[in-house]
Amino acid sequence: MATSKFTFFIILFLLGLTEKSSTASRINSRKSCNFPAVYNFGDSNSDTGAISAAIGEVPPPNGVAFFGRSAGRHSDGRLIIDFITENLTLPYLTPYLDSVGANYRHGANFATGGSCIRPTVACFSQFHIGTQVSQFIHFKTRTLSLYNQTNGKTPFCKGVLARPKDFSKALYTFDIGFVDPFDYCCVGAVGRGMGCGKTIFPNGTELYSSSCQNRKNFISWDGIHYSETANMLVANRILDGSISNPPLPTQKACKLTKNVVGKV
Ligand SMILES: *[C@@H]1O[C@H](CO)[C@@H](O)[C@H](O)[C@H]1NC(C)=O
Ligand SMILES: *[C@@H]1O[C@H](CO)[C@@H](O)[C@H](O)[C@H]1NC(C)=O
Ligand SMILES: *[C@@H]1O[C@H](CO)[C@@H](O)[C@H](O)[C@H]1NC(C)=O
Repeated sequence: MATSKFTFFIILFLLGLTEKSSTASRINSRKSCNFPAVYNFGDSNSDTGAISAAIGEVPPPNGVAFFGRSAGRHSDGRLIIDFITENLTLPYLTPYLDSVGANYRHGANFATGGSCIRPTVACFSQFHIGTQVSQFIHFKTRTLSLYNQTNGKTPFCKGVLARPKDFSKALYTFDIGFVDPFDYCCVGAVGRGMGCGKTIFPNGTELYSSSCQNRKNFISWDGIHYSETANMLVANRILDGSISNPPLPTQKACKLTKNVVGKV
């Protein structure tokens, strides 16, 4: 939940420095990076279930357009990060805070709804970006330590653990901030945003916040978060590099030694 009147989406690529050739020849290389994992940080724009795990279920009709259930996401369907992992042919990211059925083999999601960049009492979530980075450091230390404990044998949970060698080759993404000058689809009885899917009884009358019929015509799903259609449009432009600086497709993002920043 952000109060800012603008949206920004930042992808920060932390890069492997193994290639020795010049930057230009690396960018021109046709080979994809084949990122083995994605680590994401942010707020509800890219929360794939942390708030549901930690605080309370995101209710339907969230998720109605794609998952058929809320899937912990504040949107009618997939988020930008979901389209990015799909494009990299990786599974959807498991929230770090999810304790059941988690699979971190191809990355983890530290994004938590309502988070701010810095710690402030105005934020719904305690998990500001600094905390999320601390969680990532803990995650990495625990992973390395579990690998060490096995003395060369396969740990029982190896299939769902991150692989130590993948940390330096992974794609790191940040997605935080909101926009909202638009009409929205899931009209909240309790106002914009978190009201979608909730029922209230003001003055004894039942009011339910439901989805509109023509979801695909809306950029905003609930007054704060993008609809799946908008997420897909933004994701496509991130993936093809057209809104990045320099204009590098996500699949080629490891070809640069500097960070690549995409902004909307
Ligand atoms: C794991 O073992 C390696 C090699 O012995 C060591 O360098 C590293 O510090 C250990 N890491 C952890 C987290 O225990
Ligand atoms: C509830 O009733 C009060 C007093 O009549 C009124 O001011 C308020 O707008 C009503 N709330 C809703 C949500 O209808
Ligand atoms: C991923 O996105 C790139 C850039 O838009 C596109 O060329 C490629 O076909 C996409 N790959 C998949 C598997 O969707």
